[in-house]
Amino acid sequence: MKAVVFGSRGQLGFDLIRWLSKSSEVFSFSREEVDITDLEKVKKIIFEIRPDFVFNATGWNNVDGAEKVENAERVFSVNSFAPYFLLLLCKEISATFINVSTDYVFDGKKRLPYEEQDEPNPLSVYALSKLLGELLIKKSGYSKFIIVRSGGLYGVNGSYIAGRTYRNFVERVIENISSQKKMRIVYDVFSAPTYTFDLARKIVELAKEGFTGIVHIMQIGEISWYDFSRLIADLLHLDDRFIEPITLAELRAPAQRPNYSVLKNSVLEKLGKNDMMSVEDALKSYLKERGLIL
Ligand SMILES: NC(=O)c1ccc[n+]([C@@H]2O[C@H](COP(=O)([O-])OP(=O)(O)OC[C@H]3O[C@@H](n4cnc5c(N)ncnc54)[C@H](OP(=O)(O)O)[C@@H]3O)[C@@H](O)[C@H]2O)c1
Repeated sequence: MKAVVFGSRGQLGFDLIRWLSKSSEVFSFSREEVDITDLEKVKKIIFEIRPDFVFNATGWNNVDGAEKVENAERVFSVNSFAPYFLLLLCKEISATFINVSTDYVFDGKKRLPYEEQDEPNPLSVYALSKLLGELLIKKSGYSKFIIVRSGGLYGVNGSYIAGRTYRNFVERVIENISSQKKMRIVYDVFSAPTYTFDLARKIVELAKEGFTGIVHIMQIGEISWYDFSRLIADLLHLDDRFIEPITLAELRAPAQRPNYSVLKNSVLEKLGKNDMMSVEDALKSYLKERGLIL
C-alpha cells in the first residue's frame, strides 16, 4: 500500500505518518517541499507515485487571520480548492482521498453533541472555507473520499519537533503558568480537545478498512477550555491561579466561534469502532509522550 501525506510537519500530519509507516510505504511532503496550492507540482507527485491513499493534513488554521480581506484568496485556496483538486487527481488514479474538516462548521446552537448529518452553519471565514472544501468533495461525484471532522487538536509535533514551540493550546497553558504569566481562558466554550496521535490512529484504521463518507472523530466527553486548562495544571501540579476565566464575548476575537462544538462520533458508534480515548486519558497520554508525567 502506498500513501501520500501533505502537511507532514503539522501535528496531525506527523502522527498520520507514524501510524501509516507501520504498514504502508509513505511519501510525505511538508509545505517547504510542496505547497498544496501549487497544482502542477501536486499533480506531478500524485501521477508519479500513484498512491492508494492521499491524506491532506494541511490547512489554513489561523481562524482570526482568515477574517482579513487580504487573506481570503489564500484561505479558500488552501482549505477549499486545493482539497478539491486533490480529490480530482485521486479520481484519475482511483485512490482514496482523506481530508480534514472542523467542528467549527457548526454554529453551536444545538448545545448537544453534533452528529454527522446535522446541518452546518459556519460562523467564520475559516469555517466557511472548510465547509466549501467538504461540499466540493461531496458533490464531485467521486465517492472514494473520507471527510474527517475534528477539533481542538494537539499533538507532539507542535511542541518540540523541528524547533517549533507552543503550536497548541496545551503547550501555551504549560508555558504561561510555568512562567507565572496570567492567561485568560473562556469558560463558556465547550469542546472535546483531541490528541492527534489518537485521531490519526482512527483515521488510518478507517482508511485501510475501506470506509468512505463523513465521519466525526473526537475524544469522548466534553469540557470547557477553562476546565481543560485547569486539568492540565492539575495533572502537572502547576499553580492554576494564573488562569483567569473569561467569557467568549470578553475574548473579543475577530472571528466568531461556536460556543459549543462537541462532536458525537455517531458513525464510529454505528460501526462499533468508537474506541477513542476520553478527554482526560488523551491529555494524560500526550503529557506522558512529552515526558511531563509518568
Ligand atoms: N488545529 C486544530 O485545532 C484543528 C481543528 C479542526 C480541524 N483542523 C484541521 O486538521 C488538519 C490538521 O491540523 P493541525 O492541527 O495538524 O495543523 P498544523 O499543525 O497547523 O499543520 C498544518 C500543516 O499544513 C501545512 N500547510 C499550511 N498551508 C500549506 C500549504 N499551502 N501547502 C502545504 N502545506 C501547508 C503547515 O505548514 P507550516 O508548518 O509551514 O505552516 C503545517 O505543517 C488541518 O486541515 C486543520 O485545518 C485543525
